[in-house]
Parts: sequence; C-alpha cells; structure tokens
Amino acid sequence: RLDVTEVFHGISFPGHLHTQDSLQFALKFPFQDTDILIVSYPKSGTTWMQEIVTLISSRGDPQFSKTVPNWARSPWLEQHYCAAVLEASSATPRVITTHLPYHLLCHALQGSKAKVIYVSRNPKDVVVSFYHFHKMANFLPEAGSFQEFLNRFLGGKLSFGSWFDHVKGWTSQLATVSNLLHITYEEMSLDLQGAINKVSSFLQCSLVEDELNNCVKHCSFNSMKDNNMVNYTLIDEGIIDHSKGAFMRRGKIGDWTNLFTEEQNQYFESVFNSEMQGCTLEFVWE
Ligand code: PPS
Repeated sequence: RLDVTEVFHGISFPGHLHTQDSLQFALKFPFQDTDILIVSYPKSGTTWMQEIVTLISSRGDPQFSKTVPNWARSPWLEQHYCAAVLEASSATPRVITTHLPYHLLCHALQGSKAKVIYVSRNPKDVVVSFYHFHKMANFLPEAGSFQEFLNRFLGGKLSFGSWFDHVKGWTSQLATVSNLLHITYEEMSLDLQGAINKVSSFLQCSLVEDELNNCVKHCSFNSMKDNNMVNYTLIDEGIIDHSKGAFMRRGKIGDWTNLFTEEQNQYFESVFNSEMQGCTLEFVWE
C-alpha cells in the first residue's frame, strides 16, 4: 500500500516496499563472503553504482544491464521481495543493495568478508535530488515547500533517517575494516574511468582496456537515462508519476546552487558544521 509508512527502529521506510518482517530479515541476513553489498543514503549514486558493478561483473558487456531491472539484479536487502529474488538467482557473486544505516546492519556484517561499497554524495545535492524525487514518487510523503523539506532533511526526519548518521556511521568503519570501499558520486562524476578502475580493483576483477571503455560508455548519464532497466520508467504511473519528472533527472554536481537561497545555505552550513564536528570527510560541493 502506498499510503503506509513503516517505522522501524525510529526510522521511516516506504510501506509499499518495506515491512517489519522484511526489515528484520535484513538485520539477520546471513551474508556470504562472496557477496557484494552496495550501501548508500538515497540519491547518492545508488543506481549508478549498481550499473557500474553489473558492468564490471559482465566485463563491459551491457546485455545483463539492458535486460534485467536493477532491483532484480541487485535487490535492496530491506525490501520485501529481496528473499525471493536471491532465492531465484544463481548469480555469484550476489550483488545486494541497501539504504540501511550502519548501526542496523553491523551485527549481520560482523565477521563477514562480504565486500561493501559505500557511496556518498555531497548532501546539498542529495537533498535537492531527494526533493525532486518526492514530488514524483507517490509512495513518499508530500514534499511540501523546499524550506520544509530541508528542515526535515537536516532534522533526520525523512524516509531512511538521518543523512548525518548514515554517512558518519558507515565511514567510521573505514579505518578498521579492509573490505569496505568508500567512493563518492563526485569522484564518479569527475573521473568515471578512474572510479570504475577503483571499484574493479576492489572487487579483484581487473578489466582490459576495451572492457573498461565499454563500462564507461554504458554507465554514462545519457546511456543510463535511455536504459529502461535503470531509469524507473518500468514502474507504474500510480507509484511514480512520470509526468512530474525523470528519475535520471540532471546527474550533475552542484545543482543545489539552483535551488538553495542564501539563507537556506547558511542554515544548512550551521547544522552541517555542528553535526559533522570531528569528522574529517571532505566534500566536493560544485
Ligand atoms: S535512489 O532512489 O536512492 O536509488 O537514487 P540514487 O540512484 O541513489 O540517486 C539518483 C541520482 O543519481 C543520478 N544518477 C547519475 N548521475 C550521473 N551519472 C549517472 N550515470 C547517473 N545515474 C544516476 C540521478 O540523476 C539522480 O540525481 P539527480 O541530481 O536527481 O539528477
């Protein structure tokens, strides 16, 4: 049902995809050492990383990425269909996606050698992308004005919880966990080939030049915008209102400058500076 929000450990999740059982399933998931887990806060480059990992695994051949929807080849662990998708698939390695914060998944991951790719994006662009997405996604609460939306984002009140907790939680593990790679949307945007190389060497799947060139070609913004398996046009109009925008919307660094007022920027920076105190992460803002 579209009008239901599932609250789990104090965080809201869209109820048409998440149930208490599906969220519990994620928390107790028996990871295999060969699993690849893509982790992100929404709107940080999730779909892009799903495409990159698919293309690396198929050595640049777009056949799989152009015939199977992203949610069927790299399902979200916490969504209700995940168990069935994993059961029906014989793919190795399994590629799994999650938007869950670290503190909810740490027990399931403890002792596992699964390879975790954490994707982050500068939060001003995240909130703008999420705002536009709320306007077209009927399964998310009303977006309201951008000011209201920004307040909810900075207060950790949107679906999937606090961006600050998410980024701090996952990146706090970088110093101690060797099977965790942190990569940013901005790195992918500024040097896609370099980013693919970084992911492929982390996955120990090195590519020859032609394979790498094909990966770059098929996961460019324009190519993904036209790929029905990742641009969400397969989703029913009742769930995503395609007349209100496109999932592959702009795909740029710094789009926040087109929406934030000077006051909103100052407000953002004051909350950001206080929440991120002591955190050494650097962001590319525009
Ligand atoms: S979701 O709903 O959480 O899965 O969304 P997510 O995939 O994390 O983020 C969607 C944003 O990523 C942009 N995107 C890309 N940008 C550049 N190049 C490529 N290939 C690409 N693929 C997806 C997408 O356009 C959304 O960002 P905005 O700023 O809204 O355009």
